Amino acid sequence: MTAAALTPDNEPADEYRDDREDETRHNASERVTVRVPAKVNLALSVGPPRPDGYHDLATVFHAVGLFDEVTATASDTLTLTCEGEGAADVPLDETNLAWRAAVLLARAAGRPPAVRLHLAKGIPVAGGMAGGSADAAGALVACDALWGTGLSREELHTLAAQLGSDVPFALYGGTAMGTGRGEQIAPVLARGEFHWVFAFAHEGLSTPAVFRELDRLREAAGEQAPAPGVDEELLRALRAGDSTLLGAALRNDLTRPATSLRPDLRATLQAGRDAGAIGTLLSGSGPTCAFLAADAVAAAAIASALEAAPSVRAVRRALGPAAGAHVL
Ligand code: C5P
Repeated sequence: MTAAALTPDNEPADEYRDDREDETRHNASERVTVRVPAKVNLALSVGPPRPDGYHDLATVFHAVGLFDEVTATASDTLTLTCEGEGAADVPLDETNLAWRAAVLLARAAGRPPAVRLHLAKGIPVAGGMAGGSADAAGALVACDALWGTGLSREELHTLAAQLGSDVPFALYGGTAMGTGRGEQIAPVLARGEFHWVFAFAHEGLSTPAVFRELDRLREAAGEQAPAPGVDEELLRALRAGDSTLLGAALRNDLTRPATSLRPDLRATLQAGRDAGAIGTLLSGSGPTCAFLAADAVAAAAIASALEAAPSVRAVRRALGPAAGAHVL
């Protein structure tokens, strides 16, 4: 077999080709970086477990300015590397959602999944801010651009939903209603900009474990799971761009099970409240806690109070809403 037959696009071989490193064999312009935001759920209303193990829910997703960047570089094989926030805990094999996104997209486009993926993480790992989902959405958009697959936004959404419940929203960003298991997205009218402070915990939490704990607590209390829905006050607050109303309307059904599994989260939530947050919220399935501040000055005060809390590993400030996955 000749060297030419080994190249993905059947370029003619030259005498040096076999000796060159993978990355230098491809043009430097064959590289795409995509920035993808984290999310919080301003409302998260969870129904009973479904036969497929998921829960029907009604949620309001809100993308915030904490980002992962996914870089896709032309390559002959699929590889994955990672740096940044929590990188040591990120798997670098086919269990990683970004890896699976590249394989899924390649299959849909009828081509080999040949790409070098690199994740630069700013979103906490296993933090309830959909960092893994953001990486999957970023990998879809980056590989789509690199390979020129020509898939429509709808086709990308369908692939995103196969990868995870939170992946479609990461494509869109902004503020949006999520139904089904979270993968059905509809726009929500939202005005203005909100100041957020995020407290990262020392250890991550498993999303399935938190959903299971919710089912267990409801069963033990003899409670019927409600039909999922979002309060009108929250939607009104978003339409008005009123952060005080929004702070009062934040709801997350996963707060009770997450604090049951991790009682120290109560101290984190209380520390933010004591520091003047106008809204406190567990982010998704946790353990990250989110605090809404009246303005930038209040956000700085809340952030410095949280930095002193023993239950908090790190603190970040961010604005919401943020744009969805986009090529830089
Ligand atoms: O969809 P994703 O893979 O992100 O979900 C992770 C886990 O979270 C699921 O396996 C399930 O245990 C739980 N989940 C759920 N109901 C949802 C979304 C997630 O029970 N609507």
